[in-house]
Amino acid sequence: MRVTIYEVGPRDGLQNESAVVPVEVKREFIGRLAEAGLTTIEATSFVHPTWVPQLADAAELLESLPRVPGVRYPVLVPNERGLDRALKQGVTDIAIFGSATESFARRNLNRTVESQFEMFAPVVERALAHGMRVRAYVSMCFADPWEGPVAPEQVARVGRRLLDLGCYELSLGDTIGVGTPRHVEALLDAFAEDGVGPDRLAVHFHDTYGQALANTLTAIKRGITVVDSSAGGIGGCPYAKSATGNLATEDLVWMLDGLGVETGVDVGSLTATSLWLAEILGRPSPSRVVQALARE
Ligand code: HMG
Ligand code: MG
Repeated sequence: MRVTIYEVGPRDGLQNESAVVPVEVKREFIGRLAEAGLTTIEATSFVHPTWVPQLADAAELLESLPRVPGVRYPVLVPNERGLDRALKQGVTDIAIFGSATESFARRNLNRTVESQFEMFAPVVERALAHGMRVRAYVSMCFADPWEGPVAPEQVARVGRRLLDLGCYELSLGDTIGVGTPRHVEALLDAFAEDGVGPDRLAVHFHDTYGQALANTLTAIKRGITVVDSSAGGIGGCPYAKSATGNLATEDLVWMLDGLGVETGVDVGSLTATSLWLAEILGRPSPSRVVQALARE
């Protein structure tokens, strides 16, 4: 069995840093991730630079980023302006990002749940016409800091519409990291009832309550084979303050290695990268595996 790791450190991780990380550091970070064996590395976002100043250097980064054959470098694109910017850089893989709740749609996208689809539809249509691969995220799949628990059926309805725009995959985001395994099961059941199986789904757990690995294992047991994570467990969302970092890629690889599931990722090499980045960011990685291997 094989699991594809969709690495989000350079995007989800760095978008939440209080200091702006220099473009050379981002370039080296992405290069090291590819060297460690990651084959999908979400590099940056073409969002409004005032909304996410940490990633305002997206064009500069991509212009100077050495591409490794066989590695994909998707970027976040919310609207047509973002798509134009991505097309200019020769991007081949994008991800749109929707919200299951009204509160987060307004805060993260300045849209309603309904009007987000109007924003995304022309993006996906034009991206597909350019031969791009388009992924979709749906955020707040378990609970929302302003609205509380979110019903699985509500997430499935929004997710289905994002997929129907023409996206090849939907990543289920636990943006604030409150989900637990039983809720993961219920969410996957709701999608299955709507005819969306695990082959169209990925999971994206933030680790705020330490549940990310347990939730991921639950999803894998249900047939999910694409898992999002961030090297060293960095990350969060600037428009959902309670969110912390993603599931750490090292913690995920350690578990999958133990299960005999192939990922192609070298945990030692990845840990060295996370330790290097932690030094630059000025704080230790929250990953337990990084901390343990650093002591060895
Ligand atoms: P808006 O203010 O409604 O934009 O923002 P607008 O369409 O009204 O345009 C206003 C001005 O912004 C215009 O300029 C546009 O050209 C410009 P003007 O004509 O006034 O001079 N503009 C742009 N400039 C550069 N790039 C663009 C762009 N778009 C408009 N792409 C918008 C709407 C969606 C742009 C804004 O809300 C935004 O950028 N949001 C992104 C927020 C974000 O990046 N959040 C973090 C990522 S999501 C996440 O982390 C969750 C995830 O990890 C999954 C999970 O954990 O659940 C994916
Ligand atoms: Mg996220």
